Amino acid sequence: MSDVNRNYTNEELDKMSNDELARLGTELDGVTVAYRKERFPVAGDPAEKRAERKVATFFALSVLMGIAFIAVYLFWPWTYKHMEQEGLWTYTLYTPLLGVTGGLALVFMGIGIASYTKTFIPEEISVQTRHDGPSDEVDRRTLVALLNDSWQTSTLGRRPVIAGLAGAGAVLAGISIILPLGGIVKNPWKPKAMGIQGDGTLWTTGWTLASQGETVYLGRDTAAIAEKHDGHYSTKGVSRLVRMRAEDLDAGAMETVFPMTEDMINDGDVYDANRDVYEEHMHSIHGPRNAVMLIRLRHADALKAIPREGQEDFHYGDYFAYSKICTHIGCPTSLYEQQTNRILCPCHQSQFDALQYGKPVFGPAARALPQLPITVDKEGYLIAKGDFIEPVGPAFWERRS
Ligand code: FES
Repeated sequence: MSDVNRNYTNEELDKMSNDELARLGTELDGVTVAYRKERFPVAGDPAEKRAERKVATFFALSVLMGIAFIAVYLFWPWTYKHMEQEGLWTYTLYTPLLGVTGGLALVFMGIGIASYTKTFIPEEISVQTRHDGPSDEVDRRTLVALLNDSWQTSTLGRRPVIAGLAGAGAVLAGISIILPLGGIVKNPWKPKAMGIQGDGTLWTTGWTLASQGETVYLGRDTAAIAEKHDGHYSTKGVSRLVRMRAEDLDAGAMETVFPMTEDMINDGDVYDANRDVYEEHMHSIHGPRNAVMLIRLRHADALKAIPREGQEDFHYGDYFAYSKICTHIGCPTSLYEQQTNRILCPCHQSQFDALQYGKPVFGPAARALPQLPITVDKEGYLIAKGDFIEPVGPAFWERRS
């Protein structure tokens, strides 16, 4: 490396051809090309054309799969279908098709790049000794020449079909990664029609219906699933949620309940084996802010409960209902310990006092669990007396507690 002339003027460098600069670059870098063999020494050779078609096929397949992915993402019927409903089979294929087309677009792109390198880039073994310190002007100029040389030896410049297909495949593969993110971009303040999961905004739940004049029952989850009818499974006559009477819960017990409106009832003396309310029940269970813990305090403990201002009449006798969604970061606060009357969130061990309107007494949660006002109707079923008076869940927005 040291016996190579490094003192070229800008004018001398300007006069050199790209090949001369590239050769000088390898010499200056102390690179010795130990072995080099062109894959197709004669341009336009029929074998080269065949190889080109083979490589182009992989990029074309990648493009095709990328287009198929976008088509599936945009046009395939994706809305949920339950058993027996028409279109269940096509709906079931939605996610696998996205995976297969997106995956194959990337796989074919990878195979295309690997086979292009193996087919057209010259076989070469070069050995370089490293130098210390920053590069000088000669090195920088020669590096550019070497990159130019790499572009020329790659022969991509004279293969517009492969270059175009590889470019399009890369763009589509990129889109197939970015496009699904579009599905999670939404406006959290835009209300939809009010339903059993609220209106889509963060401060409504299925219980909000109670403040709009509907009777909303505290529904017990029976965990019932589809049953066999006439040789096939159907949810007809299956009641996932059933109404609860106060006496259905023992003293010191806790149960998770979900909102049920009158048109969702299919139990007790109004049970109809031909009704199918299952889907609506599942919507209620899947409502992200719907789950409520109904706690029946032991009577002696209930006498010690400290009511919170504005919530004095939210409980019904010994029955207290608190949102199950932890005010820390939204886990289900699933554990109720009847000896201490504490509600524990297993995620980060926040504890809330059931005797003090769900006030946090330990752990990272800083807000009380919102309390649902409850009572019983004239038949003795537990119902919501109104909506929560504060937003449910993590304290990401203004709360009064
Ligand atoms: S989510 Fe409940 S303690 Fe963190």
